[in-house]
Amino acid sequence: MGLKSMAALALLMVALLAVSVLSTPDIEIKKLKNGNCDAGWECCGSKSCCNGTISDYFQVYQFENLFAKRNYPIAHAVGFWDYRSFIVASTFYQHLGFGTTGDKKMKMKEVAAFLGHVGAKTSCGYGVATGGPLAWGLCYNHEMSPSQSYCTENLKYPCVDGADYYGRGAIPVYWNTNYGRIGDGIKIDLLHHPEYLEQNATLAFQAALYEWMTPKGKKQPSPHDAFVCNWKPTKNDTAEHRQCGFGATMNILYSDLICGQGFIDPMNVMISHYQYYLDLMGLGREESGDNLDCALQKPFNPTTPSPPAAAS
Ligand SMILES: *[C@@H]1O[C@H](CO)[C@@H](O)[C@H](O)[C@H]1NC(C)=O
Ligand SMILES: *[C@@H]1O[C@H](CO)[C@@H](O)[C@H](O)[C@H]1NC(C)=O
Ligand SMILES: *[C@@H]1O[C@H](CO)[C@@H](O)[C@H](O)[C@H]1NC(C)=O
Repeated sequence: MGLKSMAALALLMVALLAVSVLSTPDIEIKKLKNGNCDAGWECCGSKSCCNGTISDYFQVYQFENLFAKRNYPIAHAVGFWDYRSFIVASTFYQHLGFGTTGDKKMKMKEVAAFLGHVGAKTSCGYGVATGGPLAWGLCYNHEMSPSQSYCTENLKYPCVDGADYYGRGAIPVYWNTNYGRIGDGIKIDLLHHPEYLEQNATLAFQAALYEWMTPKGKKQPSPHDAFVCNWKPTKNDTAEHRQCGFGATMNILYSDLICGQGFIDPMNVMISHYQYYLDLMGLGREESGDNLDCALQKPFNPTTPSPPAAAS
């Protein structure tokens, strides 16, 4: 082979390599005999996988857009959160329908809704001018100055000596009871190692996604079910203004801390994050969906004055 043709071949190979790196690989979806599908490493062995995966429509540049300020020097978890940890964590739930249910619009909306909760709960944007208050999601990965020990007496999940149960994670987890319960759910011993949620971003997202995919009570929807409307509200639900939509996800996750109190700030801030992400993802806030707020909703599970553990 002449020098020229070798150079040409080398050039061609570089070009091919560039194409394969730059273009989104079209993931091959394999239909299985039982009607389920495998869609690459992200989604395996369920009907939900037949429609593709989250990285088909939500890519690293979009994550960077949504959480643009998280690595600014004044942020509190610089270098901690990244796209990969979100996608890896989501692989535990994509086959169950997270980000893979319905048409493309619904799939994108669910990711925006979940991340809207995350952004609102981890923002340090209040009073910060640069980029506006909504640009500062994923600024924290743990509570900065815990005001209490978050330890409540519990037989199943007793507090472990030396462990602290202050808020940590993408949708912060508080209290020994919640660390224990969620740890059981994701099969990681968070009761003994609550610190994992501020050390490992994949686990932090996984814990939040577990909450998103899990009902809090019998015959109640998970936030996922309430959002994609895999749920038929009962007469009671309807009478108490609980319907499918973003509002019900707040009701399930935060109960009367946020819902049933009119248009209070903590609720509005959460809605604003969801809508900001819809805009940035190119869907636009006009796609927010019905029942966006929970201002009039009675809580599914009212918090009782004691034990306080029920509050989060
Ligand atoms: C797959 O996509 C189609 C068309 O967008 C949608 O109607 C259907 O509900 C989706 N299937 C699942 C299992 O989400
Ligand atoms: C974080 O947790 C994930 C999921 O358990 C695990 O695969 C990964 O190795 C952990 N990362 C680190 C740096 O420990
Ligand atoms: C419906 O609400 C009523 C009154 O609050 C209550 O007594 C009843 O048990 C509820 N029914 C269901 C199925 O939750």
